[in-house]
Amino acid sequence: MSRAVARVMRSRLRTGALKHRPTTRRGLIVNGGGCQGKTETACEVAAAFEQSWLELHEHLNPDAVEGARDLHIPVVYVQTPVTAKPKSTCKAVLDFYGADHNGMDLPALIRAVRRHVHAHGTRAILLDDITRLKLHRRDDQDVFDLLKGFMDMSATLVLIGVDVPGSGLLRGAVEDPSTGEWIMPSRPGGQASQGAETQHQRRFTMVHLGPFPYDTPDDMAAFLRHLKGIEDHIRLFDAFPGMLTTGDMPEYLHDRTAGVVGLLECLIEDAVEAATETGLEKLTIELLEQVEISVERLPGRDATAGEVPALPKQSPTRAKSSRPRNRVFDDQGPPPVTGTHAR
Ligand SMILES: Nc1ncnc2c1ncn2[C@@H]1O[C@H](COP(=O)(O)OP(=O)(O)OP(=O)(O)O)[C@@H](O)[C@H]1O
Ligand SMILES: [Mg+2]
Repeated sequence: MSRAVARVMRSRLRTGALKHRPTTRRGLIVNGGGCQGKTETACEVAAAFEQSWLELHEHLNPDAVEGARDLHIPVVYVQTPVTAKPKSTCKAVLDFYGADHNGMDLPALIRAVRRHVHAHGTRAILLDDITRLKLHRRDDQDVFDLLKGFMDMSATLVLIGVDVPGSGLLRGAVEDPSTGEWIMPSRPGGQASQGAETQHQRRFTMVHLGPFPYDTPDDMAAFLRHLKGIEDHIRLFDAFPGMLTTGDMPEYLHDRTAGVVGLLECLIEDAVEAATETGLEKLTIELLEQVEISVERLPGRDATAGEVPALPKQSPTRAKSSRPRNRVFDDQGPPPVTGTHAR
């Protein structure tokens, strides 16, 4: 699934960048659940695009004016501020460029963003965690209109978020049955959107990134390839080929994580730590059974925007035992005196 998303995004970035006419670029929405690798996939594609674009132009901005200072920044990546306002969103973009925005009012900020996008030869703008905008607030609606206005700046806009269809971001948008693209409405009377309120249609393609399914032989093969990739990177003294990919292990890992890459990473990381500490030096189902997946430790995620994924149901045995996390590290201490614990 990640490969399919990457393929669409790669082609969209390339097509948008090579277009010379000043028409609005078609945008891309990367949709998926929390922790399913949206940021990782989008950034990897964007980084590869930036690399090839820079090489294509020998690291020079093809639109730079002769004699002017040329700082070529083909890709901009910005995380939507948790309480985004039109001003804070513009500032986040300007911060990416390292540009000064002290004391600027909103119109000046918008002008500054346009100037920088143009001057740096930016061809793609990635706005991550876009579903932090709730759109029932006027500020959020203004930010969204502002973002759509970015599409007129000869850059391809990539919006990344959790459950975009359920977020209100597509409210009023219509799906073009012939292309499957979403056509966004312009909101009459938006404050921050003078630049955005043109008669251009803003079209977005939506791509979905989900967890690994585990139903068909092809699904299983894809999950096994992912596990093999992880296995190859594990450095434990008694690790062996097939440690994660043979026996009941693949099914067990899928069961524990519901095929969500981020949860799988959390589980494996904690289990490797436990294997090192205990001296077991390999991963077994018995060891993994003692490791609880901890989503609280995932950094920089806004739970209210659905960025913290729901944990799959625990197996009956683990749920019954309700073990604390990483119990393998616990000092067992003296045996408990019978009858002192209610549980
Ligand atoms: N293809 C992959 N292979 C291995 N690990 C991956 C892959 N994609 C993502 N991960 C790991 O999974 C974790 C979650 O990924 P990421 O942060 O990209 O998810 P996300 O969908 O953007 O999450 P959120 O909704 O919280 O923003 C990260 O630690 C990342 O390194
Ligand atoms: Mg993310």
